[in-house]
Amino acid sequence: MTSASSNRGAISIRNVTKIYDPEGVNVMAVDDCSLEIGAGEVCMIVGPSGCGKTTLLNAIAGFHSITEGEIYLDGEMLCGPDRPLANQGADRMVVFQHGALFPWKTLAENVAYGPIVQGAMSKAEAIDKAGTMLSEAGIGDMAKKYPGEVSSGMARRAEIVRALINDPRVLLLDEPYRAMDALTKSIMHESLLEVYDRTKVTIFFITHDLEEAIFLGDRVVVMTTRPAKTKKIVDVDIPRPRDYTTLSSNRFRELVQEAKDAVHEEAVKAFEAGERELA
Ligand SMILES: Nc1ncnc2c1ncn2[C@@H]1O[C@H](COP(=O)(O)OP(=O)(O)O)[C@@H](O)[C@H]1O
Ligand SMILES: [Mg+2]
Repeated sequence: MTSASSNRGAISIRNVTKIYDPEGVNVMAVDDCSLEIGAGEVCMIVGPSGCGKTTLLNAIAGFHSITEGEIYLDGEMLCGPDRPLANQGADRMVVFQHGALFPWKTLAENVAYGPIVQGAMSKAEAIDKAGTMLSEAGIGDMAKKYPGEVSSGMARRAEIVRALINDPRVLLLDEPYRAMDALTKSIMHESLLEVYDRTKVTIFFITHDLEEAIFLGDRVVVMTTRPAKTKKIVDVDIPRPRDYTTLSSNRFRELVQEAKDAVHEEAVKAFEAGERELA
């Protein structure tokens, strides 16, 4: 189920394999994985710790090469046999689990940083735009504060604004809300959905939290235990806009259970194979 109002940000992952080779010991993290993500889709990725989710995200972002296969963005090859490492670009913005704001810059300066260093905007323009976007995200009052002076939830919102100022085609999120308490998380979810409704940016979102996955996603992709490939895709047929009342609907519970069954099966396999817990 993809958004009809977006025509950019389609990702095509075709037969991707990734083998790490630390000190000559091969670790196959992703094995012949294929996945089509539609333009403007919210695609949630779940699977056991260490199965290869971050590896896939890193390949899309251009942080790591792939060993085999191809990845396309809107029909253009990001990486493939001739170019195993994708270039890093503002068309694919990453938001990590551990915040990455510069502590010595205000939220507005953090948000403005990308367009300034890329020469896309003058400093004044970028700061002005940052202020407007922070206000749209409901944290305009915090624009002149430093990351250390705001809550983790506010900082995380500012990070998403910092990614969006570049007008990316894809947002790549790696367990961004993992360490948060349930209440802060639910506020984060509503604000992310609001951002999504406004921008229709394609979202590739890794999480361990199956309720989060169903609440936010158009589809939830359950990965196998390492090496990762797609095990099951759960189509989330819950209409948008969604809000916290969605969480108590029967359909929501059914879909969470469906995802849980698939993940549980893989988690047992991972446990039996002795996979280490990864942070
Ligand atoms: N840079 C690396 N060098 C060697 N092995 C790695 C590296 N990064 C990840 N791995 C291994 O690849 C596997 C998949 O890791 P990762 O993609 O981080 O999993 P996930 O995000 O699903 O928890 C793990 O076994 C991990 O130890
Ligand atoms: Mg990971």
